Amino acid sequence: MSQALSTQNVVAVIGAGAMGAGIAQVAAAAGHTVKLLDNRPGAAAQAITGIRAQFEKMAAKGKLTAEAALAAGARLQAVEQLADLADASLVVEAILENLQVKQTLFKDLEAVVSAGCMLASNTSSISITAIGAALQLPQRLAGLHFFNPAPLMALVEVVSGLATDPDVANTLFATAAAWGKTPVHAKSTPGFIVNRVARPYYAEALRVLQEGGADCATLDACCREAGGFRMGPFELMDMIGHDVNFAVTNSVWRAFFNDPRFLPSLIQQDLVDAGYLGKKTGRGFYDHSAGAVKPLSATVPAQVQPHDIVVYGTSNAAQALVARLKARNLSFTQAQASGDTVATAGSATLRVTDGRSATRCAFETKTPNTVLMDLALDYGAATRLAISVAAQCDRAAASSAIGLLQAAGFAVSQLQDIPGLIVMRTVAMLANEASDAVNQGVCDAAAVDTAMCLGVNYPLGPLAWARAIGIGTVSTVLTHLAQTYVEDRYRTSPLIQHQLFSAKVFS
Ligand SMILES: NC(=O)c1ccc[n+]([C@@H]2O[C@H](COP(=O)([O-])OP(=O)(O)OC[C@H]3O[C@@H](n4cnc5c(N)ncnc54)[C@H](O)[C@@H]3O)[C@@H](O)[C@H]2O)c1
Repeated sequence: MSQALSTQNVVAVIGAGAMGAGIAQVAAAAGHTVKLLDNRPGAAAQAITGIRAQFEKMAAKGKLTAEAALAAGARLQAVEQLADLADASLVVEAILENLQVKQTLFKDLEAVVSAGCMLASNTSSISITAIGAALQLPQRLAGLHFFNPAPLMALVEVVSGLATDPDVANTLFATAAAWGKTPVHAKSTPGFIVNRVARPYYAEALRVLQEGGADCATLDACCREAGGFRMGPFELMDMIGHDVNFAVTNSVWRAFFNDPRFLPSLIQQDLVDAGYLGKKTGRGFYDHSAGAVKPLSATVPAQVQPHDIVVYGTSNAAQALVARLKARNLSFTQAQASGDTVATAGSATLRVTDGRSATRCAFETKTPNTVLMDLALDYGAATRLAISVAAQCDRAAASSAIGLLQAAGFAVSQLQDIPGLIVMRTVAMLANEASDAVNQGVCDAAAVDTAMCLGVNYPLGPLAWARAIGIGTVSTVLTHLAQTYVEDRYRTSPLIQHQLFSAKVFS
């Protein structure tokens, strides 16, 4: 196992912007002398003043002793010339996101540092292989991809290009761990792990919005309250900024030679064209101007509580429904599993979506009064659930199904009859992308789940989520989506197919 870089070794950070300052803070807090360089005069010194203020704040909150804060602050040095970095054992670059500019910097740097000095780039989207191609010793270069804000976000992707020496990647991995981070290894492929696997979170929501499935506030509420995501996709895109989010989507899509999996959305293109970039411009999917009122999510008004409720089988949804009904002292009966039926109420049949529309499901199962429920991370704890109602379903039946879910304590959002509703199709596509990343050797299964939980705060890693709902369910949802859209976008990852046929769980 490789050792972490000793704290006796000097770390240099180039670029004193949002990321460089954060990385410098982390390395100084970990005990290294940190030299910070920026080509904007005064920027490094200004960043160091900011970092020292952060250390003081941490001391005031009792997270550091006053002496430790002072010592960490004293380990930071602003420098003005590349030549000042000659004694560095590791240089982390966090400058402009441009291949030529980064290549030039690293080439110049190679003339200054020792042959044993490791070089790292914090690039979010540029190939480490391509940056390394400009170097005399490309084996010493790896990606060290921190997330914003670097002092707070635990994840670091340690990215290996084609030429990266495994010892360098392993030393950087150990060093990131010694700095209090949770590193994961990744191969240098477009988007690395997080920026690739997260694409469906935005893409599926944009697709549902485009097809008129529901409005942004309703879809966001379902993702939060049923999916357990910290932020809904639209509020998250507004926070990230549509220019940034759209650029990442485009870059991943192009880098994969226009694979329809990553196809950007015209809706987001429009927002960018309009200058509606999200929170930073006061307008995105939502109005963020002062005094603007956030739209409410659409919630079906209270329906009459049905008295003939039957819950079938022991699926996650059925068990949670039983517990919720019991907790509310409602009368119902339980029955043996009957196909995929979760419950009946009046003449309505409730099932969890399997990627078909409710109308198709009603037709194929010869059950006209079909109402589909969305996936919930935890049906016991979810406060809201999306549903769709088959075109064949009569009003009274739909009302009974909704009344049952409301009686069980769910706020109900009725979406248009979109296949896979919102949480189910999103989770299936996240699991699909995570599976492809693993299948293509970008990272291992544990890394992809760690990366998505720590890099973008998902409540569960996509592969763990797939295991929890069943690989068979994920595969069925994807197959049905592929049948509906007849697009390569929904092709099932070979790894999911393999897992399905070998009946093994992801390890
Ligand atoms: N902002 C994020 O959320 C985020 C997250 C992860 C990775 N990244 C990556 O980190 C890098 C930096 O991003 P940022 O958001 O900190 O940018 P930023 O614009 O805040 O900071 C970049 C800094 O680099 C300096 N700089 C530019 N060219 C330079 C050069 N040739 N030599 C020295 N200094 C130079 C600039 O003066 C600026 O201070 C980019 O590669 C970006 O893709 C950004």
